[in-house]
This record gives sequence, C-alpha cells and structure tokens, in this order.
Amino acid sequence: MKPQIEVGVLGCGYWGPLLVRNFKGLPGCRLKAVCDVNAARLKHLSTLYPDVEGMTNPQQFVNGYGLDAVVIATPVKDHYSFAKASLLAGKHTFIEKPMASSSAECEELIEIAQRNGLVLMIDHTFLYSSPVQKIAEIVQAGDLGEIRYINCRRLNLGLFQKDINVAWDLAPHDISIILHILGEFPTTINCQGNAHITPGIEDVTNMSLSFPRKRFATIQSSWLEPRKIREMTIVGTRRMIVYDDLRTREKIRIYDVRVERPPHYDTFAEFQYSYHYGDSYIPHIHQEEPLKLACQHFVDCIETLSEPLTGGRQGLELIKVLEAATVSLKMNGAPVTFSSSNDAVAAHRSAKAEEILETETSDGMSGAPAPHQLITQD
Ligand SMILES: NC(=O)c1ccc[n+]([C@@H]2O[C@H](COP(=O)([O-])OP(=O)(O)OC[C@H]3O[C@@H](n4cnc5c(N)ncnc54)[C@H](O)[C@@H]3O)[C@@H](O)[C@H]2O)c1
Repeated sequence: MKPQIEVGVLGCGYWGPLLVRNFKGLPGCRLKAVCDVNAARLKHLSTLYPDVEGMTNPQQFVNGYGLDAVVIATPVKDHYSFAKASLLAGKHTFIEKPMASSSAECEELIEIAQRNGLVLMIDHTFLYSSPVQKIAEIVQAGDLGEIRYINCRRLNLGLFQKDINVAWDLAPHDISIILHILGEFPTTINCQGNAHITPGIEDVTNMSLSFPRKRFATIQSSWLEPRKIREMTIVGTRRMIVYDDLRTREKIRIYDVRVERPPHYDTFAEFQYSYHYGDSYIPHIHQEEPLKLACQHFVDCIETLSEPLTGGRQGLELIKVLEAATVSLKMNGAPVTFSSSNDAVAAHRSAKAEEILETETSDGMSGAPAPHQLITQD
C-alpha cells in the first residue's frame, strides 16, 4: 500500500480551518497536525478534530514534526519566512494567495523548491472552480472569437483590513483568473484608488491591465459597497460571457451577441452598425468545492512530483501585477510598464516609480506602503 502523505496546516484563523477540513477528507493524505500561535484557535480545532495534534510553535512544527507537506494560511507578511523554512526542511509547501509580499521573495522560494525537488503550490483557488475552468475551455475553443476585454467587480461592505489595501485583499482572485484565461502577461498596469476610512489603506481601487493586441482587463475592488458583487464579463468578438459567482446555479451565461461595422460603404447614409442578437444559454456545470480540488491537486502533484497548475511561477506573476499596481496607485494611476509582455520577472518601472520604491526601502515611512507592508486576507 502507498504510504500516506502527512500534511500539517499552519494558521487556523478564518481560512485555515477550511483547508483543514478539506485535507482531512482527502484520500492519499493524513492531516497530522495544525499550528497556530493563538491557543483559542487551536482549542476550537481540537474540538472539531480531536485526533489532530495542535501546536503553538511554528518553527518546531515546520522543522521537527516529520511532516511531508506544510500548508501555510497565516497573514501574508509571514508567508515567505514560513515557506522558506518549510522548503529548507524538505517539505512540499502549499501557500495561500498571495504567495508573498514581494517578487524577490517569490523568486527565492521558487529557486529553493526547484533546487530541492519539492512541490511548491500557491492557492489561486478560483482556477480550480468549475465555472472558471468552463470559461477557460470556452475561450480556448475560440467560441467567443477574439477576447476584446474582461471586466471584473468584486465588491462588498468590508471586511476592512487594518494593514492591507483592497487591491491586495480582493484583486488576486480576478488577476489569477484573467492571466489564466488570456494566457498572457500584461504589458502595462494602471491603478487608482482612495482611502476613505483608514488613512493610507485604499478601500476602493480600480485596476487596469493592458495586454498585447489592444486587449485589456479592468478590476474594481471595494470594501465600500452596499451589495456584495462577484461578477466578471468577458467580451469577445463573437460572443460574450457573464459570470456571476454569487448565483448558486447558472453561474455562467453565454450571450450570442455582437456588433460589427459594415465591411465597406460609400456614403454616410449607407453606414450602419450591424447588431446581432442571438440566444443566450447557460452551460451545465458540475459543481465541486474548488478548495477541495486545489488540495487534491497538491496531493496529486506530490505523488507524481509534477508542477502544479498554480505553482511558484503563477504566484510570482500575480505578485508582479500587485507590485506594479501599488506603484501606479501612488502615482495616481500612471502606467507602470513591463519591459516584455511575457516577462513577468523583468518589470520595468519608471524613474518615478523607482524613486517611490527606493524611498520606501530607505526610510519605510513614505506615503506609499512598501509592498512588503501590504498584507491581504479575504
Ligand atoms: N484562497 C482564498 O480564497 C482565501 C480566502 C481567505 C483568505 N485567504 C488567505 O489565507 C491566509 C490567511 O487569511 P485568514 O483570513 O485566515 O487570516 P486570519 O487572520 O483569520 O488567520 C490567520 C491565522 O494565523 C495565525 N498566525 C498569525 N501569525 C502566526 C504565526 N507567526 N505562527 C502561527 N500562526 C500564526 C493567527 O493566529 C490566525 O489564527 C491569507 O494569506 C489570505 O490571503 C485565502
């Protein structure tokens, strides 16, 4: 019989217990222990799972507990240090989104994982959800034609975070979906926002990602909306999709609508846009908990020693976008351009942006929170 992979979850606040529940129910692995500095959280988990050991010392948990894999669900500022310790201790490592606080941290973690032949997976949960997989399938099959733009809205009242802005809190979900669907890295990022409630922490942001061939995506993130909205519209040259994640059923609707210009015309009177109104339809989607599929994928990747769908590279790309958005935000939406459309690593920042980042590094007190100060949780 195959030996079971022994897993431990570090961080048992809001999201950690969901990971615990999922790993606990998976075949092929055994949830051996959980760790949290907060004893009350451990007590809560021990009532739910009396057979799982609880620990309060993360160093001991990561280094000396005979685990095969460590799952990190702590605040983002600690992702890097815990993931590094875990990888250096020879553990396969699963990190909650966003991967770390800076691209330099991500690059180091990727290098350590590669050097030690370990699986490094980032929880970009939505890429494991059936609606997003269906959308990617439809787009890849060319059913929408060429994608013109994607518009995302992730809004609700709160939950206000004390030390992160709303872009780092909510936009990672949208960014991961957009990069996956388009299969390309943006050339330019713009981001505007305002801090209405907590000084220095933007509670409303509008991010825009420009891609080659005039394609773009917009992401509106807010903690200041009366209604909870989780919506994405994908506009193609032939068809369009509206994805509403809050609907229990019928999350995706495909609209057979488009607008075309006449191929040629001689007089202005002859000119007429051609509007096509076809049917709309709702594809059947088999629903499964995305987090369960993500956890299963991690276990499968460990068993086969393969690269996850959302590995270190995807985690790094997402952080590059967030870093660029942070710089743009501090320049009131000015564009931050990447030197090459597919080169997530070689981000080119404007002189002004470099100045902002340098000021942050030297005194840590500029108006712009340093990327490492931006912590996110949903
Ligand atoms: N994938 C998703 O959809 C999703 C949703 C929500 C949160 N998250 C991510 O999950 C992570 C945790 O978010 P959360 O909302 O659960 O945060 P949280 O603050 O509710 O929980 C964090 C837990 O970590 C513990 N902790 C803090 N420092 C620690 C340390 N040094 N050692 C051990 N334990 C420590 C805290 O006591 C707390 O129980 C974040 O990265 C967040 O972005 C992901």
